[in-house]
Amino acid sequence: MTPDALGELIRSRRTVNDFRPEPVVAELLLEAIELARWAPNHKHTEPWRFHLLGPETVAAIVELNTSLVAEKKGAEAAAVKRQRWSAVPGWLLVTSARGDDELRNREDYAATCCAVQNLSLALWNRGVGMKWTTGDVTRHPRFAEIVGLDIDVRDVVGLMWYGYPAKVPVSKRKPVEEIVEERP
Ligand SMILES: Cc1cc2nc3c(=O)[nH]c(=O)nc-3n(C[C@H](O)[C@H](O)[C@H](O)COP(=O)(O)O)c2cc1C
Repeated sequence: MTPDALGELIRSRRTVNDFRPEPVVAELLLEAIELARWAPNHKHTEPWRFHLLGPETVAAIVELNTSLVAEKKGAEAAAVKRQRWSAVPGWLLVTSARGDDELRNREDYAATCCAVQNLSLALWNRGVGMKWTTGDVTRHPRFAEIVGLDIDVRDVVGLMWYGYPAKVPVSKRKPVEEIVEERP
């Protein structure tokens, strides 16, 4: 890949909210996960896990989220959410190892975040969009039960939606001069 192509891949990637209905084949997702795991990770802990969520698990998450939205915002908002979430073609949960050492947890979380960006870019390179979500539902105790997660030993880093984009949003960044600070 040329430097320009890498720049274009990084710059053009967007968080996708609206997906076309056709699913992404498992091989393509696994190819992206294979690349994701080449992220840097201190002490080579490889803290990441990629949980591929099937229709039963997804349906239970959608129902849990619908009930949370109903409690907070009412039935109408919940119905809209249910419809929107039910239309998402691909679901992947990413978790990171958790233990007693807070510094290790922090570094492992950082490494897993690097892996998520690798994943996102690898998918984008194949025309597949992704959305990284950390909404309320991911912190609900019932969520851990649904996905079979022991929260004493793993943290949710994000629930990833993926699929072919129906729409690619526009995003922007601050000018580089605003984010660079020099030190003598
Ligand atoms: C750790 C993390 C958590 C995120 N959680 C959410 C979320 O819960 N809901 C959401 O709409 N977007 C979420 N996003 C996506 C961001 O909103 C998105 O990256 C941002 O709007 C910039 O858009 P871009 O990715 O297209 O550049 C999350 C992103 C990150 C890195």
